Amino acid sequence: MVNLIINGKRQELDVAADTPLLWVLRDHLGLTGTKYGCGIAACGACTVLVDGQPVRSCITPAAAVGGKSITTIEGLSAEHRHPVQRAWIAADVPQCGYCQSGQILSAVALLSAKPKPTDRDIDEAMSGVLCRCGTYTRIRNAIKHASRLMAKGDVA
Ligand code: FES
Ligand code: FES
Repeated sequence: MVNLIINGKRQELDVAADTPLLWVLRDHLGLTGTKYGCGIAACGACTVLVDGQPVRSCITPAAAVGGKSITTIEGLSAEHRHPVQRAWIAADVPQCGYCQSGQILSAVALLSAKPKPTDRDIDEAMSGVLCRCGTYTRIRNAIKHASRLMAKGDVA
């Protein structure tokens, strides 16, 4: 049995302690916004936030995050009103979309730590989250747009 706090809701799940968090989210909770890419922590598609920090859920045993606050893309904003989501929409970032939940949650963590990130900050924070569609330029623009929204207090 593993106790998790997913998107603000406590969940007691009958899974083995070493079950990767990714499969708990997808298979046990139906939170399929978190994607499986490589399974070896190399692509970032499975990124979720654990206590606000980006974590690769494919290699994270469920028991390792017991009692911690886990945020998936579904938990960011039910109405897609988080400033990062709005900036993503305004910049029309996604192509196939497969990598985008990992990109968005990584961007949320970056902006939480560095509200006005430089290009270098963005490169460092985002370089490990791969996009086969090459949306990197639009991701950079969207992060800067989200930063401006947040600076204005436009966080509805
Ligand atoms: S699926 Fe986890 S990093 Fe690629
Ligand atoms: S939008 Fe297709 S992999 Fe990133």
